[in-house]
Amino acid sequence: MKQTLIELLDERVRAALDAAGCEGAPAVVQVSGRPEFGDYQANGVMGAAKARKMNPRQLATQVVEKLDLVGIAGKVEIAGPGFINITLDDVFLAQQMDAALNDERLGVPAVEAKRVVVDYSSPNLAKEMHVGHLRSTIIGDALARVLRFLGHTVIAQNHVGDWGTQFGMLTAYLIEAEQGGDATVALTDLEDFYRRAKQRFDEDEAFATRAREYVVKLQGGDPEVNALWRKFLDVSLHHCEAVYEKLGVGLTREDVMGESAYNDDLAPVVEDLRAKGLAVESDDAIVVYVDGFVNREGDPLGYIVQKKDGGFLYSTTDLAAVRYRVSKLHIDRSLYVVDARQGQHFQQMFAVSRKAGYAPDSVQLEHVGFGVMLGEDNKPFKTRSGGTVKLADLLAEAEERAYALVSEKNPDLPEAERRAIAQAVGIGAVKYADLSKNRNSDYVFSWDTMLAFEGNTAPYMLYAYTRAAGVRRKAEDWNPKAAISLTEPAEHQLALALSRFADALQAVSRETMPHFLCGYLYELATQFMRFYEACPVLKSEGDVRASRLRLCELTARTLKTGLGLLGIQTLEQM
Ligand code: ARG
Repeated sequence: MKQTLIELLDERVRAALDAAGCEGAPAVVQVSGRPEFGDYQANGVMGAAKARKMNPRQLATQVVEKLDLVGIAGKVEIAGPGFINITLDDVFLAQQMDAALNDERLGVPAVEAKRVVVDYSSPNLAKEMHVGHLRSTIIGDALARVLRFLGHTVIAQNHVGDWGTQFGMLTAYLIEAEQGGDATVALTDLEDFYRRAKQRFDEDEAFATRAREYVVKLQGGDPEVNALWRKFLDVSLHHCEAVYEKLGVGLTREDVMGESAYNDDLAPVVEDLRAKGLAVESDDAIVVYVDGFVNREGDPLGYIVQKKDGGFLYSTTDLAAVRYRVSKLHIDRSLYVVDARQGQHFQQMFAVSRKAGYAPDSVQLEHVGFGVMLGEDNKPFKTRSGGTVKLADLLAEAEERAYALVSEKNPDLPEAERRAIAQAVGIGAVKYADLSKNRNSDYVFSWDTMLAFEGNTAPYMLYAYTRAAGVRRKAEDWNPKAAISLTEPAEHQLALALSRFADALQAVSRETMPHFLCGYLYELATQFMRFYEACPVLKSEGDVRASRLRLCELTARTLKTGLGLLGIQTLEQM
């Protein structure tokens, strides 16, 4: 397949619009919301008619006369003010199923490959990873997987915070801890390490002075202080990697491109911005003004790139990173999977990058923002005592809770098996709960909701997969070559859901919205369960049985692949 179904229908409807005298009018093909209105709806006629002052019903009739969907649609109808409702032909759909079954990529066409940076996870290494980094890590990982599957070259960039005054304090404290002989022990809990370092800094003037000297030495490239700093980063990255491993997220050291990597470029960036007349001195900083950004009072809002004391900022680093990504990584697109509260920073940074010529218009820059994770009390997620929740603890709890659940449902399974199931269910639940929500909104983290076996949850999806895969396992007379034929409405609906996989993935890639994929998989699972109720599989016979088994097989493969693209591991039994 070279096209997705929507692309194919879109092409045909556009050709018909052209032939009906509306050249260049968009077809606006969408999945139909209700089966009684057909499978797809083309809504372009109304706009085209309006622009040309034509009667939309009349135009729709002309378009349908010119519309060539022979061998694709079984039924084409005009409805309402000029909608064109399209129902796919069962033979055509069956061919799509056969083609998908015979394709490793399940019929998903490879797109024109682009080079895409996904900047995600990116924790601050001074402290331990906390829930604030969970969403970026999970969402970024899913996007990276989908883009890669579609055929893009994905370059993960873990833009860790590994630079700044805190690190002077931490390296100074590391020496003390080492002199005390327990540096390794002290570093097992970074949160604690940070707290103690901060306490020393606040309480002991001599220590604070030393810490400040260390910042200067660090920036000056002093080898000894640099070695200490690196040691600290190494330990901190190990902590992150433990979390990545638990989460099944593929980030490695190779993907780390921290803030410090851009040090040498910060002064040149500011110099360049000044030379171009973009950066100006304002009050006590060096600032870039771009049209369209104003503060609450309506005054122009500047983007600070250098402080009065000469220090550079987060903003300067991101400008240097854009230059690097465009000139060295040769990217076509850069996704920043970062908390929505940094929205203004990114919008300003993109505008400055365009103006300064760091990112030509051909390179897409997108802030993939997300809302805050809330507790069940609708307040920012915290521990019972009000502290930040460490990711490692949260994930351990997920597995514990899933283990209790599995043990209750399946007390007879051997312990090791229950543990393995609990791991997939627990981690899967945390990820799926996050990914299934529109990332732009805040979301309530609720163990009970995410671990429920009903609804759009990981346990339900994993269970649906075991059902589909289980049928296939139970069938001894499995014919891998059997042709699919669709006769029952439930078969049509299931095949339709299966045929939409490619379009769902493209929508995820285009809009950077992983919840589209969750919604798609949930619809697929729902249609599968309906099919399974309505159409006997193992109890049917002959060609019907062979065809239905093939539908189960394709459902299982699509669910497994789709969940895999969300970073969720499936189980054969649960
Ligand atoms: N370290 C930052 C934080 O924890 C996120 C960095 C995101 N990436 C970027 N290129 N600014 O908030």
